[in-house]
Amino acid sequence: MQPTSYRTHGCGTLRSSDVGTIVRVAGWVRRVRDLGKFVFVDVRDRSGILQLYAPADSPWYQPLCALGREWVIQAEGRLRQRESPNPNLPTGEVELEVTALRVLNTAATPPFLVEDETDGQEELRLRYRYLDLRRPIMQRRLQQRARLMDILRRYLTAQGFLEVETPMLIRSTPEGARDFVVPARLRPGTFYALPQSPQLLKQLLMVAGCDRYFQIVRCFRDEDYRGDRQAEFTQLDCELSFVTREEILEIFEGLVRHVYAELLGIEVGEIKRLTYAEAMQRYGSDKPDLRYDLAWEEVTAWAHRQAVPFWQNKRVFWLWVAGVKASRNLQARWKALAEAAGLSLAFIQRAEGTYTTTLSKYFAPETLGLSEDGLGLWLAGEKLPGPELGLLRSTLIHDLNLPPQRPWALAWILDFPLFELTPEGRLTAAHHPFVQPHPEDLDRLEQEPLSVRSLAYDLVINGYEIMSGSLRCHTPQLQLRVFRALGLSEAEAYQQFGFLLEALGYGAPPHGGCAFGLDRWLMLLTGGTSLRDVIPFPKTASGADLMLQAPAPLSPEQKAEILRWLTVENT
Ligand code: AMO
Repeated sequence: MQPTSYRTHGCGTLRSSDVGTIVRVAGWVRRVRDLGKFVFVDVRDRSGILQLYAPADSPWYQPLCALGREWVIQAEGRLRQRESPNPNLPTGEVELEVTALRVLNTAATPPFLVEDETDGQEELRLRYRYLDLRRPIMQRRLQQRARLMDILRRYLTAQGFLEVETPMLIRSTPEGARDFVVPARLRPGTFYALPQSPQLLKQLLMVAGCDRYFQIVRCFRDEDYRGDRQAEFTQLDCELSFVTREEILEIFEGLVRHVYAELLGIEVGEIKRLTYAEAMQRYGSDKPDLRYDLAWEEVTAWAHRQAVPFWQNKRVFWLWVAGVKASRNLQARWKALAEAAGLSLAFIQRAEGTYTTTLSKYFAPETLGLSEDGLGLWLAGEKLPGPELGLLRSTLIHDLNLPPQRPWALAWILDFPLFELTPEGRLTAAHHPFVQPHPEDLDRLEQEPLSVRSLAYDLVINGYEIMSGSLRCHTPQLQLRVFRALGLSEAEAYQQFGFLLEALGYGAPPHGGCAFGLDRWLMLLTGGTSLRDVIPFPKTASGADLMLQAPAPLSPEQKAEILRWLTVENT
């Protein structure tokens, strides 16, 4: 058989309406089932799976039986109706009666099952990522990734955004992580940094008059890998000129709704808005998982009126979980968790109208006016509200296996603090140093910097920070004030960010923007549990690419050369 083309149809595209057609398909052998009287072979390509068929008296019976798993084949024949359809397969009503077969390549026995339900451990699958990606579930994820990018490009282009590329070999942009650096051969002793984000370049594009910019861009941060962090990840990066915060939120709310409608056919409900202070007070987190309605309520004033000694001089927060009963064991675990953070935790359990609490000697439980069975918690401490509220909330959700009230919960978190303290007690930018301080707090910038809010916002989906952005300082005067508050002298500021300050001085428009973490968002959109599910070629928790075996040592010659550059003094 010497066809003019390898195939006429994708394996997964054939349906009953194609019965009788002569078709040619090409793909990988999923499995061979020799039933004696006939043989079935499943062949797979990106579009799906098709069953090939030959009766024992066919000249193709033996060649089909001899095929091995993952061999690459081409088969031709007439499509026919199946005698026993498979309702689980889109092509389950039809099969191809083979009248020509060609083996295009054989394959070594794969080290794990190339199936959605695979027997391969993750390490093995990362070592043979090309086989892992051949699994239908991974093919679907790759396709959804490409679809998401296509939807984003079309939407933003229609909204007047210009796609602009920015360089990968740049100068350090502080996003709070360590830089990956590249020695510059032509300028020994100097280094490029790979971008942690295109933050400063997109601001410079606004100075250039681009008005609305976007880019789907790789970012590099030499930080520790966690479930929702990779050192190399992809952002949808955007920046806009002459916009208010409200307009930015509206534009991206539109984009997010559009993505859910197009990709999942889902209409996103209300997108809540919370200030950072509210989020911390009610959920103890700046990225609360609002699929669960559980929220803390401050009851300090009420608590101080009770005779509970360990509540005096503390702030006290109350959480009510309706309809649950927690074992003593669980209560003891949560109490230990609170005590480890220097807080006290007390409980009240109402079951069938009867109360159990260790606080009954201080006040009568009936005075609480609880109208239903459930579990109540009081957390008390001097440092509250703080992340412990969030930790307990999520531990409860996990330990009690609480069902979410809704599958998707999207929320804007607004008015983040401009600064925070490092563990060493140094003032640092809470997000990055280009964020505009909240105009209402500007007069406290020098005296009380930690009380200053910013015009930054995050979009949180199901407890993940999916997007983050802000309005920026667009005059050199304001940018210098922020640098100064961060402890940079004017000379130091010019030395590190002279190009930015200079550009702001050449007529920078008011501007702001944001960046979506596309891998994180895709992980949620595709139901994955790790970024590795949606990044085509990800790295392990220790930063290794097991397939390419990177990072790898340098050759002695390369190493000697780099060492020479490294030791040249930077003048
Ligand atoms: P930020 O640093 O918050 O903001 O990043 C924006 C979004 O990118 C995602 N993200 C990551 N995803 C995977 N692995 C990582 N290591 C990782 N780090 C961040 C998150 C995050 O919300 N230049 C600013 C944006 C701006 O101000 O316009 C920036 O990069 O989903």
